[in-house]
Amino acid sequence: MKKTFYVTTPIYYVNDVPHVGHAYTTLAADVITRYYRLVLRKDNVFFLTGTDEHGANVAQAAAKHGKSPKEYADEVAPRFKEAWKLLNIQYDYFIRTTDSHHEKIAQKVLQRVYDKGFIYSGQYEGWYCVGCERFLAPSDIIDGKCPLHPTRDPVHQKEKNYFLKLKELSKLVLKKIENKEYAIFPQERYNEIVTRIKQGVEDISISRAGVSWGIPVPWDKKQTIYVWVEALLNYYTATQFVDNKKNFWPPDLQLMAKDIIWFHTVIWQALLIAADLDLPKTIFAHGFFTIDGQKMSKSLGNVISPKQLVDTYGADGTRYLLLSAYQFGNDGDLSLRKFRDNYNADLANGLGNLVARVAKLASTTKNLTVPAIPPYNTFLKLNPNYRKYLEEYRFNEALAYIWGRVKTLDIAVNAQKPWEKRGSELTNAMNGLIMPIQEIGSLLQPLLPETSKQILVQFKGPTIKAQPPLFPRIV
Ligand code: MSP
Repeated sequence: MKKTFYVTTPIYYVNDVPHVGHAYTTLAADVITRYYRLVLRKDNVFFLTGTDEHGANVAQAAAKHGKSPKEYADEVAPRFKEAWKLLNIQYDYFIRTTDSHHEKIAQKVLQRVYDKGFIYSGQYEGWYCVGCERFLAPSDIIDGKCPLHPTRDPVHQKEKNYFLKLKELSKLVLKKIENKEYAIFPQERYNEIVTRIKQGVEDISISRAGVSWGIPVPWDKKQTIYVWVEALLNYYTATQFVDNKKNFWPPDLQLMAKDIIWFHTVIWQALLIAADLDLPKTIFAHGFFTIDGQKMSKSLGNVISPKQLVDTYGADGTRYLLLSAYQFGNDGDLSLRKFRDNYNADLANGLGNLVARVAKLASTTKNLTVPAIPPYNTFLKLNPNYRKYLEEYRFNEALAYIWGRVKTLDIAVNAQKPWEKRGSELTNAMNGLIMPIQEIGSLLQPLLPETSKQILVQFKGPTIKAQPPLFPRIV
């Protein structure tokens, strides 16, 4: 049995600074990584994220700022790293597609696909959306625009390009999907992809003659590799040049939102088949969220940065609010109005208050016997539903499960009224409350790591001291 776990997020375009949409996927990857680090040990898990830095979109954004694309990418890429730090997201490697290692290996893979006869030269004529970095079929254009980028006119292209035999390869992709050689989740996305492949797939252009900001096509240096093709290859190139990661190939889980699922379930798999590489195990595409019921967009001025949330709610507060907002996988809404109420109810009053109450009572109890904290795996065995929720990426349910424990323990404290007890009766009552708190602290590890650490340090004994509140109330 494979004893390692490799998880990836999309690599984000550097034409934009990080927002809560990017944070959402990356946070999910962090939770899964932390979970598997506990279960399989740290070295057996590889979490890759990074930035997508080539293409016309990035080149145009750089020009708007009076910078060269590389200068601009060098400025924006660290912003992503900062955001992940603020959210306590611990990736193992941050790949940038302008890294020369990536460039060389991407070229090598494409050359292999070419040598195997899956690429041919042709003439491309049609429309391109620079915002999506995608060729548009006539049916994609509505009222002359790409619906995802209504403020940017599609560009008409007529140029010599190299094409990938996607029509032929997509048949193999479909077979592999139907044979369950790799999984697409949720089911709705699986159905959508299978239907679309069956409707017919055309070959796609995988090079650009008119875009110089990219990786040269190895056999024809006048062209650059279509940005999506080399971006997808990042998941493979990183395993080949980062120390000791070769054995991690193929990915166990690739996360993204549904906007880019076609690239990941069809184009990406076709490239891998053509290059004779193993396919990822699972592609999971979560939904899109709105903010207070509205699409998040620059023109509406409702784009939220991770920093804004962390400044108000702290790293773990933000992690809790994002992960508990709705089921991972579905579309949902982030209601900023509800964030404050949920923070106060669940974190300040719920968990924070329970921990503070028990700690205060324990700090004045004599002859307390604080048990050693059992390992995470022990708690995992005792809580099979919690384990299932995490392994099925049902983060809101994993949190609700822990909060069920918080509630039960709160009720137990109220019923036992330790503050009215004295002597051995008090000691016994308190001894019975410590282990459940340790359990809550331990189960929180992958989800709210800092809070978990604070609880476990406070309740590891031999004595327990009251500490400042975990989550100060926000008024
Ligand atoms: N660079 C490509 C990906 C290449 S991967 C080989 C790209 N970048 S992106 O910056 O546009 O990021 C898209 C991703 O951001 C989505 O797939 C998703 O992970 C995240 N999200 C952006 N907005 C979001 C929401 N409103 N809701 C949920 N996720 C969001 O595409």
